[in-house]
Amino acid sequence: MPETKKMLILAGDGIGPEVMGEVRRVMDWLEKSRSVIFEVEEDKVGGAAFDAHGDPLTDDTLAKAKAADAVLLGAVGGPQWDDAPFDKRPEAGLLRLRKELGLFANLRPALVFEALAEASTLRAEVVAGLDIMIVRELTGGIYFGDPRGVETLADGSRRGVNTEVYSTTEIQRLARVGFDLARRRKGRVCSVDKANVLESSILWREEVQKLGDSEYPDVELSHMYVDNCAMQMIRNPSDFDVIITTNLFGDILSDEASMLTGSLGMLPSACLGAPDGAGRRAAVYEPVHGSAPDIAGMGMANPLAALLSFAMALRYSLDMAGEAELIERATEKVLDGGLRTADIMQPGKAKVSTSVMGESIIRALDKDEQAA
Ligand code: IPM
Ligand code: MG
Repeated sequence: MPETKKMLILAGDGIGPEVMGEVRRVMDWLEKSRSVIFEVEEDKVGGAAFDAHGDPLTDDTLAKAKAADAVLLGAVGGPQWDDAPFDKRPEAGLLRLRKELGLFANLRPALVFEALAEASTLRAEVVAGLDIMIVRELTGGIYFGDPRGVETLADGSRRGVNTEVYSTTEIQRLARVGFDLARRRKGRVCSVDKANVLESSILWREEVQKLGDSEYPDVELSHMYVDNCAMQMIRNPSDFDVIITTNLFGDILSDEASMLTGSLGMLPSACLGAPDGAGRRAAVYEPVHGSAPDIAGMGMANPLAALLSFAMALRYSLDMAGEAELIERATEKVLDGGLRTADIMQPGKAKVSTSVMGESIIRALDKDEQAA
């Protein structure tokens, strides 16, 4: 009996629907060639949901997300919603989804495919072999802290407030994810904070060190200020293994890391909650690239980040690590073969559309299967 996996696809806005279309193809391929059935439901999120329901994430959609084995998200946002009320922005839907599902750990792997080393804005020898796992805290920090808001003062001027706040529990559970991952990688964790200025960062550093000393003495732990980390990531990126950091710092550093790899269009991510008694955890998988409104609907978006995010879903939620490797290998093959979407185009390579890139992945999967 094939196993049934309940999937929710939230394609969202901009290039979201285009790249998720290619993910659907790979899901179909897996259904045909593996003993698995994807029970797929599709729904709206972000601007698309705001236009349909006046709400970027409805309770109904949230309930579906909670019931799914994994949620695959495209992207949210675009200039057409710039005037939406602040709490109804497309981004607010994404933040609510993360918060309500308790997705506190955001895994953003940045690795350089050999074929793309030349596409990085850094010299190929600097980025060669680079493989960083950024573990970003995702449901706390300044994104969610109180007090927050904009107030008008007595003299008529205005004051905007946000609060960076972390509890020991939040720090420890995030750090644990990073330490556990490091054990399966190169055994190194770099914790990134701003402990020379922020009290919340002082606590962050102390708690991470305590946990490292007591439970992960085998993992090599270092600490770095975020400004220095931003610099070291450009100077010597292959020095990093696992980076653990706060919500805001992780947001910034992961965009920086993506550029090391050649394109934001290559970066997948997994947002994970805490495992329940049965080992099941809420999870949303999304490409890091966002909605790219400037190229939406033009068939030129890079679907690889979405496909690699689906591979992460196979690995972390669906107990199909072998299939995840198939997709990663197919990606490598297609890049080695010289196919490029516009964002990773290089001289002498063949520029292809979103769907041709997706088709080529399917062909590479077929070939791999025949060779096996
Ligand atoms: C990301 C994005 C989001 C974030 C936005 C769209 C709210 O930049 O996933 O990195 O800041 O977390
Ligand atoms: Mg971001």
